[in-house]
Amino acid sequence: MSTGRLQFVTAAASPLRGRIRVPGDKSISHRAIMFASLADGVSRITGFLEGEDTLATAALFHAAAVEIYAPSAGERVVHGVGIDGLRGTDATLDCGNAGTAMRLLAGLLAAQPFDSTLTGDVSLSKRPMRRVIEPLASMGARIDAEGGLPPLHLRSGQRLLAIDYTLPVASAQVKSALLLAGLYAEGETIVREPHPTRDYTESMLRQFGVVIDYAPGHATLRGGQRLRACDIDVPADFSSAAFFLVAASIIPGSDLVLEAVGMNPRRTGLLATLRDMGADIRVEREAMQGGESVADLRVRHARLHGIEVPVTRVPDMIDEFPALFVAATAAEGDTIVRGAAELRVKESDRLATMSAALRALGARIDETDDGATVYGGTALTGGRVHAHGDHRIAMSSAIAGQLASAAVIIDDCDNVATSFPGFVELTTSIGFGLTARHIG
Ligand code: S3P
Repeated sequence: MSTGRLQFVTAAASPLRGRIRVPGDKSISHRAIMFASLADGVSRITGFLEGEDTLATAALFHAAAVEIYAPSAGERVVHGVGIDGLRGTDATLDCGNAGTAMRLLAGLLAAQPFDSTLTGDVSLSKRPMRRVIEPLASMGARIDAEGGLPPLHLRSGQRLLAIDYTLPVASAQVKSALLLAGLYAEGETIVREPHPTRDYTESMLRQFGVVIDYAPGHATLRGGQRLRACDIDVPADFSSAAFFLVAASIIPGSDLVLEAVGMNPRRTGLLATLRDMGADIRVEREAMQGGESVADLRVRHARLHGIEVPVTRVPDMIDEFPALFVAATAAEGDTIVRGAAELRVKESDRLATMSAALRALGARIDETDDGATVYGGTALTGGRVHAHGDHRIAMSSAIAGQLASAAVIIDDCDNVATSFPGFVELTTSIGFGLTARHIG
């Protein structure tokens, strides 16, 4: 097993207090770079996530002949080359840890007049790509991938035809890949979902002037359209805010405000779940920012109790289960999760890795094929856990460590930088007991 060199070490927290703004939304930042690159004209992005995943996407477009400037942190000025202006490169395109980059680019690059090869890191190289390759192939794309895993070899010069496709699993990444390919396809591409997923591709394409018809559960667009440059203001990432919603809920004496958090309903399932568990979270100062609703979230410590998470809510909190498991451990009673098999194919097998991490600290969890039962109310001990290179496992374990009776050592935390640069600095500024050290 390859192990990164960054290690976190926790100490008991002080009550979490203050007002903070977590980094920009990862999903929106990826798409903003992609669509601005494809647009005619100059777009300005603010609130951009300076994380390794989104920096990788920006570097890939730069390699495809798009000029991208960074006048200040969180700001990008993108000189779009137009839908037909990307240039091929002989170099392999490295998506790093980013599944969003690889899957969306599979759709976009399948339609280009040049060959491309997409690779990723150890974690991404294990993630299933057939879900995107098969529907793209039925549009006429030629993508080779041994065993359905990266690297993806995309063959140029294919004529794409629109399809009407129903996704077998709810996936915003696959939906987005098909819509991007659909921009280059002859006819009208229709994507239907078993459960609605985040609609950033649809809403942002519309902001870039594309005519797209969408509602929860389906999207339709006609090929041959061009994108018109526009400015994108990226809200704070709900998935990064999620760690603090959990931490402040379970650390006694906490009273914390998270500013300008993106509140897209396809992302905020954890908010509803924590409230069902008894959390004290208020939504304040609701506003619209760049076509997305945002709000300040005020969270205070509360006594949580276990619940059964509604299966229909799972896709709306798919990235938040590692953090939920920590809340469930601190809650009174049992929390039951079902219908979440997708967690097994994220940056790690999150049902396995999060269960193992919490068990190493004395928690009681039974894993099932598609979920888990977390038996709450166990006092956590110190111990050593492995994040398996998964940013959300590392950060969730750091929260668990705030309640542990002794230090928790968390190995393999390097990838926290993929989605949450400055995690240690921000958390310690409001009361976390957390240090990071490089080993080896
Ligand atoms: C994402 C979609 C989700 C999510 C991922 C980001 C996106 O994956 O887990 O972190 O930006 O479209 P799915 O494609 O499985 O929905």
